[in-house]
Amino acid sequence: METETSRKFQVRFGERQTIKSSRLPGYYELPITERRRIVSSLCDLTPAEQKSLEHFGALTPELTDVFIENAVGTMSLPLGIATNFLINGKELLVPMAVEESSVIAAASHGAKLARTGGGFRTGSTAPISTGQIQIFPENPEGFESVLAKHKDELIEKANEGQERLIRRGGGVKNLSWRYVPAINSLTFYLDVDTRDAMGANMVNTICEKLSLDLVKLIPGDIGLRILTNLTDKRLARASCLIKKEAFHNDRYSGAEVAKRIEAAYLFAAHDVYRAATHNKGVMNGIDPVVIATGNDWRAVEAGAHAYCCRNGVYQPMTTWRCNDDGDLEGSIELPMALGIVGGVTKLHPTAQSALKILGQPSAQGLAEIVCAVGLAQNLSALRALASEGIQQGHMDLHQKNLELSRRKGD
Ligand code: MEV
Repeated sequence: METETSRKFQVRFGERQTIKSSRLPGYYELPITERRRIVSSLCDLTPAEQKSLEHFGALTPELTDVFIENAVGTMSLPLGIATNFLINGKELLVPMAVEESSVIAAASHGAKLARTGGGFRTGSTAPISTGQIQIFPENPEGFESVLAKHKDELIEKANEGQERLIRRGGGVKNLSWRYVPAINSLTFYLDVDTRDAMGANMVNTICEKLSLDLVKLIPGDIGLRILTNLTDKRLARASCLIKKEAFHNDRYSGAEVAKRIEAAYLFAAHDVYRAATHNKGVMNGIDPVVIATGNDWRAVEAGAHAYCCRNGVYQPMTTWRCNDDGDLEGSIELPMALGIVGGVTKLHPTAQSALKILGQPSAQGLAEIVCAVGLAQNLSALRALASEGIQQGHMDLHQKNLELSRRKGD
């Protein structure tokens, strides 16, 4: 029945968005081909549009159906290789899965500039992810002494069943807690070294199990049990130095460009609107590598942006300053929860090839590479913005896209 609301939605989403109902009981049980047939018929897809859902690329229909629910096809993204990366003295080619033209060219350009100062130096903390367990205690008094007394025993309990992980140097490393009277919430923070796994499932499983032991010690209602994406004990860093001569162009001397890049960074440090765009440019480098290696880029995005607020004000993800010689020094530090084992990383053939192209890094190694790419990407964007402007280079590279759209009459 057409109502005032449905009429509004039709206007908002366009006239063709007129399916009778989005309730499709049993849809998830159907084979992929049947799901595709139903969505095509409900949404009036033309034969060409239907065909666009049928390509599986490196995946098979079987794998696709295992990865997600209600699968009808795959969404292909271009995969390209960023060149010029020199990280801790090692030459590296970087696979990037991204739809935006100029991103890979810019990453390669940033990496080339960084070579003038010896490339990127990187580092990282141990791969510690933190799970949160929330209890609403019946009695908010006296839990400190109980918990202090049982802390080691609780860590031991949490580690039960994790022998393989512990043998590899991982496992639960610490348990801390915080009481928030306003919501009567006793929150536990469980630090788990997940080694080469991203570890979300592992941490969540341990948290759910441990909550049952905790509530025996601290009677109350169990609330949420889930890892935090603000993995601020799982940090990766990268830095680089660019000799000022590398920036020289028709309009500015190298030293002037370096100064203008420093000023661009300061702009982001003092203006949240600019910081958001500055950081989008950093994520232009980070997300495509995270995606190419089959990792959870939403988790990385959430952690990165939350980390930027750690001092109470949203800040840029990178810093840039000119040193006494007038050369430019840059750095980045971000939470980076990545895995190289388990889930899509292991099962997706393209993710496996991407890891091979990267030289089969550990999860920490991958996190460091990703940070270096984010720094290179940001450098390249700031260099262009601070000299000729972004549109010239961007639009040259975007030209092929535009021509294709024009031919399609768009
Ligand atoms: C565009 O995808 C990214 C930039 O806007 C980043 C920036 O402004 O620093 C160019």
